[in-house]
Amino acid sequence: MASDLREHLVAFFEEQHKLVEAGALQLILTQNQPLILSKEVVERVGSASPFVTREIVEAALAGRRPARAVGGDLAAEAPTSARLSPALPFELLREGYTGPPVATQPIAAYEALFQSRFRQLARLLRGRPQLPGLSPVKELRAFEGGASVIGMVRAVRETPQRHHLILTVDDESGSIEVLVPRDSPGSRTTFLPDEVVGLHLEFAKGPGKLPRVASVERPDVPHARSVGRAPSGVRAIFLSDLHVGSRSFLTESWGQLAAFLRGEGPNPELAASIDHVVVAGDLVDGIGIYPRQERDLAIADVVEQYAELGRRFRELPERLTIVTIPGNHDAVCPAEPQPALPANVSTGWPGNVRILANPSTFALHGVVVEAYHGRSFDDLIPAIPGASYARPTDVMKRMLQMRHLAPIYGDRTPLAPLPQDGLVIDPAPDILVTGHAHTYGVDRYRGVLLLNASTWQSETEYQRMRNISPVPARAAVVDLANLGLVTLDFSGPSPVLVGAGA
Ligand SMILES: [Fe+2]
Ligand SMILES: [Fe+2]
Repeated sequence: MASDLREHLVAFFEEQHKLVEAGALQLILTQNQPLILSKEVVERVGSASPFVTREIVEAALAGRRPARAVGGDLAAEAPTSARLSPALPFELLREGYTGPPVATQPIAAYEALFQSRFRQLARLLRGRPQLPGLSPVKELRAFEGGASVIGMVRAVRETPQRHHLILTVDDESGSIEVLVPRDSPGSRTTFLPDEVVGLHLEFAKGPGKLPRVASVERPDVPHARSVGRAPSGVRAIFLSDLHVGSRSFLTESWGQLAAFLRGEGPNPELAASIDHVVVAGDLVDGIGIYPRQERDLAIADVVEQYAELGRRFRELPERLTIVTIPGNHDAVCPAEPQPALPANVSTGWPGNVRILANPSTFALHGVVVEAYHGRSFDDLIPAIPGASYARPTDVMKRMLQMRHLAPIYGDRTPLAPLPQDGLVIDPAPDILVTGHAHTYGVDRYRGVLLLNASTWQSETEYQRMRNISPVPARAAVVDLANLGLVTLDFSGPSPVLVGAGA
């Protein structure tokens, strides 16, 4: 795992035409988020030198905020925003995709992925007072006052008669079965496969009795959030699922949106305050994504679909920065994290478009945005009792509690076996935006704005078959100074303000 990361970093520096000193590499490897640090280092060096020395890394670290406390508890998780500059309109913090898999054996590659997930999330749980007597699974002993473990949920089953839950959880040292009594507080939130949890255990007397889960801790986001770093009156607009190339792309609604952003609509002051457009994937409809899709396509060639998207982007004012990530309809490998779109499909796009991986974390004027397309809704919605496509923000809360966007392996969301799990939510965002559900949802959770951005495609026959009723042509306009939100509806003859706040 560590050597994979080392090779990956060396390859990264090579790509940037930098020779990295062994001591510098050593230091980078001991830090949190070594890849982001490496990017910072490269930015710092610029073209001044072909070398990256230990001194340069030390200088980059000195310029950062103090490192997060080792084994830090929730309270110690310093807000990322503390080191972000509101003066910088756009700052890329983390791309989920960190290059092609390095391990050659698929099993070893997936092991490295899950190890990376476990390590990243265990770090958020370690040191919490709710997890006293924390011990590796292998060293767990029955103590009078109980003990705690941090583990990845590998299996959940119900006992036939009493309907208690039996969890199998793993850490790096081993595997253990524990009992979650029916109707106990810990049983209220569904345990999802491959999520990482902290368990406080009590030991029942008697042979063969499983340790009982007294309480459950999830990585979660900190309670205390500080927002309001952006200058007042700066806003971003959030869209998703344009599906350009589809017969049901909403040409008129898009035209109205473009006119609104150009200041030709009823509220030019609001439009003028917007400087970023975020599009959360499914930029085009693609080809061969679902059975007999060709009947729904207005543009049958995928490169032509992207060229048309470029023309649509040109209808928006040039002063806007358009931030895009791909979705499952886009022309990149569907395994997540997905890489950014290849350059050959974006030739001819205007220069104000940023093409990022899915997911990506970036700061807009110091406000941290995590953008993820949302393919994992297809796995999480069936797995969580009561969850539905009509209320995707409920599932997004669960993502924040797990600090993971797509934990379930082996179902509908293919996971790429990268050495670093790029679907872990870190840093904790101020705004989590998704799409994919083709509905529209706004909610707040512990100060984080949850946004399921709407689609610019009306209903297709395929969606009807799957019983999804879309809520199209809504746009969320977010004030980055205070995360206040207004929703605009572009589905009628003229834009309508349909709601303020959440
Ligand atoms: Fe979509
Ligand atoms: Fe999608």
